[in-house]
Amino acid sequence: MNGLQIKNVFFIYKTKYIDVVALKGVNMTLSPGEITVIMGPSGSGKTTLLNLLNGEIRPSSGQIIYNDQIYENFSFRDIQNFRKTKIGYMRQKENLFNFLTINDNFQLIADLIHRKISKEEIIEHLQKFDLGEKINVFPDQLSQGQQQKIAFLSILIKKPEIILFDEPTGNLDAESRDDFIRMIENYKEQDNDTIFVIVTHDPAFIAIADRVYFLKNGKVDTHLDKAEIIMNKTINLEKNIPNFGVNAFNLTISKEDLSRIETSIEVIQNFLRKLEKKHMKNPEST
Ligand SMILES: Nc1ncnc2c1ncn2[C@@H]1O[C@H](COP(=O)(O)OP(=O)(O)OP(=O)(O)O)[C@@H](O)[C@H]1O
Ligand SMILES: [Mg+2]
Repeated sequence: MNGLQIKNVFFIYKTKYIDVVALKGVNMTLSPGEITVIMGPSGSGKTTLLNLLNGEIRPSSGQIIYNDQIYENFSFRDIQNFRKTKIGYMRQKENLFNFLTINDNFQLIADLIHRKISKEEIIEHLQKFDLGEKINVFPDQLSQGQQQKIAFLSILIKKPEIILFDEPTGNLDAESRDDFIRMIENYKEQDNDTIFVIVTHDPAFIAIADRVYFLKNGKVDTHLDKAEIIMNKTINLEKNIPNFGVNAFNLTISKEDLSRIETSIEVIQNFLRKLEKKHMKNPEST
């Protein structure tokens, strides 16, 4: 079967004092060409589920299957390659490296997948969203909304088969949020085979969803398919969207996080060395 299947997945965080059962038998089907929106209160297991789909943690029991391949059977290297080439993961923030310009952030991703991308191509890419002139700036010289848009564009150069979003508009105002939602919608219209998984507290995403899951306490509480979303007849969405609270985890880039951004410190060091060489040859070029 094509797509991602989550079959009776449990996930337990084993900590020094207690075990936290974050997921308690989750079943979901995520299909190519579909936007799946996952909502649920803080602590209900949404990020845990994305990290499982990204292969950075493994189910305590149950299975995750992608196009008939069981994640569990992947070796560590397989899963790293799978992540590098097939998955784009947008975390809540800090998706770009602050010590690299926008151009170099794009170049780094291209490097990871052994693709060459010219500065002109990147500008063309950015230009679609009027961000072409930002090519040489550093991420922290941009607004949060611009950073998220650019992070999304940079992920797209991989042409990922699966795109995971964790609260992509959590820090944006309503206008930037709407722009961002439109970007996803546009991309989906151009490319019909991507699996989009969007974790959000924002009901505005329901408008573009093909499927919505509400997680509660580590379990799927409600599931709506497209027909139910459109007709909105089975549930009153408002009632199912209580105050979800804020995300409890603020990601900052640490050594640990570097490995989570689909890359490794070694790759970044090589990239920086290359950049340094280029800069020494032609100081005006960066
Ligand atoms: N590294 C960890 N060690 C131990 N427990 C954890 C860890 N990460 C998450 N948990 C626990 O697992 C449960 C699910 O957490 P998760 O981060 O998946 O929730 P979430 O739905 O993403 O919440 P939010 O909306 O606040 O981001 C929570 O009870 C949380 O405390
Ligand atoms: Mg979370």
